[in-house]
Amino acid sequence: MRRINHLQNLALATCLMLAATGAQAAPDTLDVSAHGATVHVTAITDTILRVTIDRDGKPGETASWAVSPAMLAHRAPATIDYGTLRTAQLTASVDPATLHLRVVDASGRAIVDDAANPVVLDRDGFTLRKVMGTDEHFFGMGDKSGLLDRRGGSFVNWNTDAFGYASSTDPLYKSVPFFIATGGAGGSYGLFLDNTWRTWFDFGHREEGVVAIGATGGPITYYVIAGPTVRDVVRRYTDLTGKAPLMPRWALGYQQSRWGYSSAAQVEAIATHLRSDHIPADVVWMDIDYQDRNRPFTFNPVTFPDMHKLTDTVGALGIKLVTIVDLHVAHAPGQAYAPYDSGTAANHFVHNPDGSVYVAPVWPGPAVFPDFTVPATRAWWGTQFKRLTDAGVGGIWNDMNEPAIFETPSKTMPIDTVHRIAGDGFAPRNASHAEIHNIYGMENTRATYDGLRALRPEERAFVLTRASYAGGQKYAATWTGDNSSTWDHLKLSVSMLLNLGLSGFSYSGADVGGFTGGPSPDLLTKWFEVAAFTPFFRDHAANDAPQAEPWVDGPAHLAIRRHFVEERYRLMPYLYSLAASNAQTGDPIMRPVFYDYPQALTAPCNTALTFTLGAKLLIAGSPKPESLQAYDVCLPEGGWFDYWTGEAVTAQPIGHKPYATISVTPRLDALPVFVRAGSIVPRQPLVQSTSQVPDGPLELHVYPGADCAGELYDDDGHSMAFAAGAYARQAVRCTTGANGVQSITFDARQGTWKPWWHAIALVVHGDHAPISATVGGKAYPAASGTRTIVIPDQPQAVTVTFNAG
Ligand code: GLC
Repeated sequence: MRRINHLQNLALATCLMLAATGAQAAPDTLDVSAHGATVHVTAITDTILRVTIDRDGKPGETASWAVSPAMLAHRAPATIDYGTLRTAQLTASVDPATLHLRVVDASGRAIVDDAANPVVLDRDGFTLRKVMGTDEHFFGMGDKSGLLDRRGGSFVNWNTDAFGYASSTDPLYKSVPFFIATGGAGGSYGLFLDNTWRTWFDFGHREEGVVAIGATGGPITYYVIAGPTVRDVVRRYTDLTGKAPLMPRWALGYQQSRWGYSSAAQVEAIATHLRSDHIPADVVWMDIDYQDRNRPFTFNPVTFPDMHKLTDTVGALGIKLVTIVDLHVAHAPGQAYAPYDSGTAANHFVHNPDGSVYVAPVWPGPAVFPDFTVPATRAWWGTQFKRLTDAGVGGIWNDMNEPAIFETPSKTMPIDTVHRIAGDGFAPRNASHAEIHNIYGMENTRATYDGLRALRPEERAFVLTRASYAGGQKYAATWTGDNSSTWDHLKLSVSMLLNLGLSGFSYSGADVGGFTGGPSPDLLTKWFEVAAFTPFFRDHAANDAPQAEPWVDGPAHLAIRRHFVEERYRLMPYLYSLAASNAQTGDPIMRPVFYDYPQALTAPCNTALTFTLGAKLLIAGSPKPESLQAYDVCLPEGGWFDYWTGEAVTAQPIGHKPYATISVTPRLDALPVFVRAGSIVPRQPLVQSTSQVPDGPLELHVYPGADCAGELYDDDGHSMAFAAGAYARQAVRCTTGANGVQSITFDARQGTWKPWWHAIALVVHGDHAPISATVGGKAYPAASGTRTIVIPDQPQAVTVTFNAG
């Protein structure tokens, strides 16, 4: 094999791109060879192409940690001629002289196009170079910090315990080697480099006009995912790497955590305090403190003597416990520590190159590390949770799974540590940590998720992880790790969560208030307000940080924080329907404004604290939340209502731009939220826990406007019965006339589940308040002086008409 000593030696690299030796048609793959390399292009679907490049005539393995065997084997009809592959939607062509790949859409617009020297091989590594369009913006790449738009940035994927990270820190905890480009001539496209080694992505940072991606080793396999919209790309990327499962409803509730809840009495006191302060909450989290000497799968016999009793006590308050279980098993030979003994007996731990078991310090002191790429090891790991599920623990938190190692500058295992691959479609072999590092955390969560599902087959499994890889959304929710109590981190949390959502990780959150440092009262309050509209809502802090529970800053701050937590609980039907649709489509729960309003891509609608929750709610915090200076909120064209008052917003059009602005003067106790005209938003009466059945009708807030629609979704909130049809899904639409909302049409409800509500309160917003509504020949009057009309539940297809005053 030819070797190039330095990647930058592009002149020499060009030599590799010698004239093609030929091209030939294979049944479903376009193969084009030039000296030393062969490019294969396969149509997985009409809009997803797999590109693999073999070097030295050695074909790569068709196996993946991210893509299921079914998707790997999936094929779309394609015609292959000399140098081109055509699907119903795309044409890919590979230049036989240069291996230059170009993909165009049905109308001939370039979606993705190689730059000069498109494939550069360097020792075991490689660099691929693509054209970066002048108008393109880049998103995705998992949890990476910095700006929302990756353009101009350069990033490395290498899962890292990044305690105290800043907006410029890279790499962070997760590796999602996937980006979405949007704004180019051919609309949007996605590119997923399915390579688990240390990979890098450079968006015009080193070289103007070039997107360069590469790895230090491993297969040259990537997927081109066509748009044209960002939504198309995200849906297709999650077709390829998997949808996040529907979480239990309680995972959408408010969650109270802290490193340092160090006794059962303290956990109970926190749960009781939440209830006595009337702060709706669903979960109290238990960090490493509950364990015996920080050993996974143990309970401290003195401070947590009866875990079952504890889960029962807080369970009676409608609160679940989620416990941390890190993957580092204490190295405790001869101490009757079952996970070590059984893991050692069955050879489940990772080895040094000399064949000895790798031992390194983490929380328990010297520790050993399960070989999660071995199916039998994952199965063994999964069975360890029995003690926790028997005790009634609700979910599991897998932390430190980059994996984090103490007392070493690399913060992780040496790259020559030996893992075994023994399944998942790969040929059985030993693999170095260099290859496994970035998937180690994901395989840890896979083992946990599968273990919980096996132990409680009727229940949904909830796992939270810090590290992961592309496709890890199938197993776990995630959070943004050890952030800081600063205004900058509040802003950062939003861009990180938005990019995580675009990268498949729709259930994401940041430690509310910041993990280290201790928030000022104002910061904690503002953080509560913003986080109440993010998917995973957990207040968490380090053991040496000041207390950061909602009540710590006195009644005035508590009242504001409670108000926002309550609002989240009122919005639960909307939030849960977003979660259900995420599980089906992959559409993130929390989205950048341009996801549903592409015309706002280049407008100032994507500033620091601006995002949407589903398509219908737009949250617009100040881009400088620490300041009381007035700021302009940017609203995509089409009409909006103020969520809090229900009144239509008069925004200032900006010339012929596709958006308008309104000026907002920030207040500590307020967060601007807007509702799209043409929305039907379900809300419910306040509860203190999602386990409580709301008392009263389901509210349907109707905001007149074009394409007026909404969706209702309900199920039992925790079991797998929904997968067998025990759900209720119902589309609703409205029509608008001169007198405001004219009618609401309910489609017939799908599924066998009977939802909790018996009546529906229609709350009609806009200039005209109806005086009554007629359904099934019967008129129902508006409650006097209100816009609310209560009608019976409507499981069948029916149209409700409104009568104007
Ligand atoms: C890590 C986690 C943090 C946790 C701590 C102790 O720093 O990121 O959330 O509290 O470990 O387990």
